[in-house]
Amino acid sequence: MTQDELKQAVARSAIDYVVANEIIGVGTGSTANFFIDELAKIKHTIKGAVASSEATAARLRGHGIEVFDLNDVPEIAVYIDGADEITDTGAMIKGGGAALTREKIVASVSKRFVCIADGSKLVEVMGKFPLPVEVLPMARASVTRELARIGGTPKLRLKPGTDEAFITDNGGMLIDVAGLSITDPVALEQRINQIVGVIAVGLFAARGANVCLLGTADGVKTLT
Ligand code: 5RP
Repeated sequence: MTQDELKQAVARSAIDYVVANEIIGVGTGSTANFFIDELAKIKHTIKGAVASSEATAARLRGHGIEVFDLNDVPEIAVYIDGADEITDTGAMIKGGGAALTREKIVASVSKRFVCIADGSKLVEVMGKFPLPVEVLPMARASVTRELARIGGTPKLRLKPGTDEAFITDNGGMLIDVAGLSITDPVALEQRINQIVGVIAVGLFAARGANVCLLGTADGVKTLT
């Protein structure tokens, strides 16, 4: 099976976790896009969705799914999203698709986080995938220096094919930190959160996934 077929398989399985008559939190990325396409098939059973990015909101609306402002939604039953890396305890690196801050906010008000990923995302120790950190543009250089002290190699994310900084939906910039070996994800998340100028770090450890659906050649495996 191709990686896309594995992503499609987990997206289909995630439909079992959708709670009827509720507003569903929806993540960002290619796996989340497959999930949105599946969700569209049962859209009459849900009230609508809260999106973790402008791209996700546009895709949901394109399928005729109502998109709610998070400020109007006190609680979300389930949040469904992909990951760049995940451990068997549900800690994740996210933000390869640049939506980490909104993803973290939507996840924080969700009762259950269901991660959907192809099997290649499961790791013992996170850090091979560069850790994304969203920063206020004026703090780009100061945060970069602080991140270098942690031991990795921070690099400003650029708009593809240009030498201009990539700008997120929130007007932030992204610094991707390569070369980390994240043996204590909760401590590292806390430490990076404390750097002045950081908007959010793409480590989801203090609040990780409750369930992970992993697409493998032997079928979809469930980690809880
Ligand atoms: C976006 C994310 C995505 O969930 C992550 O990058 C995985 O993406 P994909 O499903 O395309 O492999 O965190 O900010």
